[in-house]
This record gives sequence, C-alpha cells and structure tokens, in this order.
Amino acid sequence: MIRKILVIGLLCLFTTPAIAAECKATVESTDAMQFKTGALVVPAACKQFAITLKHTGKLPRNVMGHNLVLGRTVDVGAINADGMKAGLANQYVKPGDARVLAASKVIGGGESTTVNIPVGKLKAGESYTYFCSFPGHAALMKGTLSVGK
Ligand code: CU
Repeated sequence: MIRKILVIGLLCLFTTPAIAAECKATVESTDAMQFKTGALVVPAACKQFAITLKHTGKLPRNVMGHNLVLGRTVDVGAINADGMKAGLANQYVKPGDARVLAASKVIGGGESTTVNIPVGKLKAGESYTYFCSFPGHAALMKGTLSVGK
C-alpha cells in the first residue's frame, strides 16, 4: 500500500508539473500600452491553453484598460474595428463574433484575468494574433500565437 502511494506520488512529481507548465502562459501588460510577451507557441498536446493577462500598471480600465483577444491574423483588423464600436460594456468585443477564438475581459492596473484558448480549434501552420482591443491599443499591443509540437 505504502509502496503504491509512493509510486503514484513519484509519477505525479514527474508528470503533473511539466504538463501544467506547458499549457499556460502569463502575459504582462503595462501603463505604457505594451504587452511584455510578443509571441506564444501553444503545444498541440494541450486541450486548453490558459493565458493569464496581468496589468502591472496603475491606470484604471476606462483610461488604460487592456484585454487579450485571439483571432486569425487575417481577421484581426475587422475584429478590432467591430470591437471598438461594441464599447467597454462589451469588453470591446462584438457580442457573438465568430472570428474571435478567445477573449478576456478588460482589466485595469493591478488586476489580472485568465482566458482559456481552445487548442482544438487552432490549426498548425495558421497564423494567429493576440491583441488588445481597447481603442487605439492594437497597433502596439499584439503578439503572434502558433501551434507547436
Ligand atoms: Cu490595451
């Protein structure tokens, strides 16, 4: 019995932290309108990829709010234009926008939020972009996301 527990314990020790580390990432955002991470590679083995968006600044969300929206790179311009019109009440994302693969809420300084990327919806070889859809931010606040091995 004790040996069994030990074996299970050892298995957990070797497998769990590795998987947990691979299927998540943290992206920091700032009062200087920037993402600190410019590219993410999502392992194909992950079912979900959790991105935690942290706002390390001090400004409130209506002034320097940030979110993290994921779409195909070719769709980003249109998603962003529609998101701007949707307003802060809709987290600057058009409700029901099928081009949006994942989107977090808008956060202000000192806050953080997590958004889950459904990896099964992503294709290897496709170019994806995550960006902030707060009006005027997408030009600076964007990064590439791709599916890795
Ligand atoms: Cu922003």
